[in-house]
Amino acid sequence: MPKENLKIQIPASSSNLGPGFDCFGLALTIHNEYDIEFIDSYDEFEINSNLKDEFCPNNKENLFYKAFQILFRKEGFNKIPSIKVELNAQIPCSGGFGSSGTAVLGGLVAANNFLECKYEESELLKEACLIEKHPDNVCASLLGGFCLSSFEDEKLISKKIDWQLEEVDILMLYPLDFRVNTDEARKILKENHPIKSSVSNLSNSAFFTAAVLTEDLELLKESIKDKIHEQERLQLIPGASEIISMAKEQSAIGATISGSGASLIVFLDSKSNLDIIKDKAKEIWAKNKLESESILCKVSNSGALIY
Ligand code: HSE
Repeated sequence: MPKENLKIQIPASSSNLGPGFDCFGLALTIHNEYDIEFIDSYDEFEINSNLKDEFCPNNKENLFYKAFQILFRKEGFNKIPSIKVELNAQIPCSGGFGSSGTAVLGGLVAANNFLECKYEESELLKEACLIEKHPDNVCASLLGGFCLSSFEDEKLISKKIDWQLEEVDILMLYPLDFRVNTDEARKILKENHPIKSSVSNLSNSAFFTAAVLTEDLELLKESIKDKIHEQERLQLIPGASEIISMAKEQSAIGATISGSGASLIVFLDSKSNLDIIKDKAKEIWAKNKLESESILCKVSNSGALIY
């Protein structure tokens, strides 16, 4: 029996945020919106979007559809209800915005709605983590705000913290037609780190979290530092190191790689030189033969919404 059509809006996310590798996620006010029509038949799938085919193929290889099938298979369905989907994507496909996580969540949330919300948020997140392999982006996109998460031995722990630092703007800088493969960007990381680096990340993660909880901008500024992934990954993104240093010189609160890149996240307040940072970032990327764009946004305390 066909279900009512629904619309699902899912925010982009930035992960790691410096010290919180595979743990920190931040939902952003940039969204993808899925309009889903349930059709009275089985095993048919169609998706249309404003994205290039390579990012949103109109076939069953689509990540949204792969995720959509999971709960039905778990429930023992032999046939999957047919759907037709319109995707209105605001989230750039440059890595670092958690866009694959939004597709996975879109499919899971749509299926769960069909199944009368039998699965709880934590169960949906676990399924999403099994696909994505890391929990930070999907937790932020589903729950919103600043999320802490861990996914060890298939056990998920997540905690959403509302972001109250209203004065903070987020500038996302990203090159066009240049992507960092997340698997590759994970393989280049060291397996073991000196205790000094681990202690530094541990302290800065705690300070970052305390800064968000106590709305302390100075502490936030001190804590956006990493010693376990950023240096290795900067080598994969031409110009990124120069852009991050430049943003800090121009009074950004902090700047770092968003997720595994290639996007960069810059935290700003009214003292930061927004226009100079945007212009200089474009120049630096152009010098490295990369066209680029930027989006100014906020942290979104809302996660995925169903209409
Ligand atoms: N935490 C993950 C990583 C995010 O840095 O590999 C990938 O988007």
